[in-house]
Amino acid sequence: MSRWIWSALLVLGPLGGVGCDHAATTRPDEAAAPGPLAAAPVEPIAETPQPVAVRINAEYGKHDAAGWTKRFEHDGREVYDRRHEIVAALGLTPGLRVADVGAGSGLFTRLFAEAVGPSGRVYAVDVQADFLTQIAARAEADGQAQVETRRADQRRTGLDPGSIDVAFLCDAYHHLELPKTYLADLHRALVPGGRLVIIDYDRSRPGTEAWMKDHIRADPPQLLGEIEAAGFTPTAVSLRLEENFVAVFTR
Ligand SMILES: C[S@@+](CC[C@H](N)C(=O)[O-])C[C@H]1O[C@@H](n2cnc3c(N)ncnc32)[C@H](O)[C@@H]1O
Repeated sequence: MSRWIWSALLVLGPLGGVGCDHAATTRPDEAAAPGPLAAAPVEPIAETPQPVAVRINAEYGKHDAAGWTKRFEHDGREVYDRRHEIVAALGLTPGLRVADVGAGSGLFTRLFAEAVGPSGRVYAVDVQADFLTQIAARAEADGQAQVETRRADQRRTGLDPGSIDVAFLCDAYHHLELPKTYLADLHRALVPGGRLVIIDYDRSRPGTEAWMKDHIRADPPQLLGEIEAAGFTPTAVSLRLEENFVAVFTR
């Protein structure tokens, strides 16, 4: 899809919602530890790992979860400064099941948990066990029993098929090392009509620094084209950010 069509989609109407009821299955602390993935087996997809994503994910060994939290949750980071606006734009309602994929410090996990309430569920999905342990501890301290952690790997989200209404990736899509394979698993995890929300840095912006150009492997049209090719349908979005692009797809 061409760049201008994407731009047009970004300024159209509000984000839609999908509602449903479901039962809680696992306590947050039970799922935080590394272990076998809960997801169904995935048919193999021939895919070469994205070298940039492999390189940037290797950075996670350089700090612990607390160190990364300081880097993710600070004034001046656009998605932090505008976090409440971002969550409001999703129109989450009580009872929804949301996956915060690439949850990191749990910045959005906590806000999603407030939005979907005790009858909803928020899956904090990450490849780093440290982050999940921190998220589970914080959820317990905050009394957010609706938060459940899922350990992903680069092929699988760890989410059960048909188990989520909304998948949200903030600053995370460009970290996927095997996007085609992972998107197929995410597609399985979403209910029909469920939403996939992507927020990521737009490296095609004028003035983008060289390190950022190296950090994000492609411009938005390529990244969004990959998602469409994986069987997701682009849909209208009302939210606009300055540094990041926002895109919503339905399954
Ligand atoms: C830049 S952080 C973003 C954290 C959070 N979404 C935010 O915006 O504050 C990227 C996160 O993606 C995670 N990640 C990398 N590959 C992943 C994968 N295949 N599945 C889930 N998480 C992944 C990293 O461990 C890291 O926590």
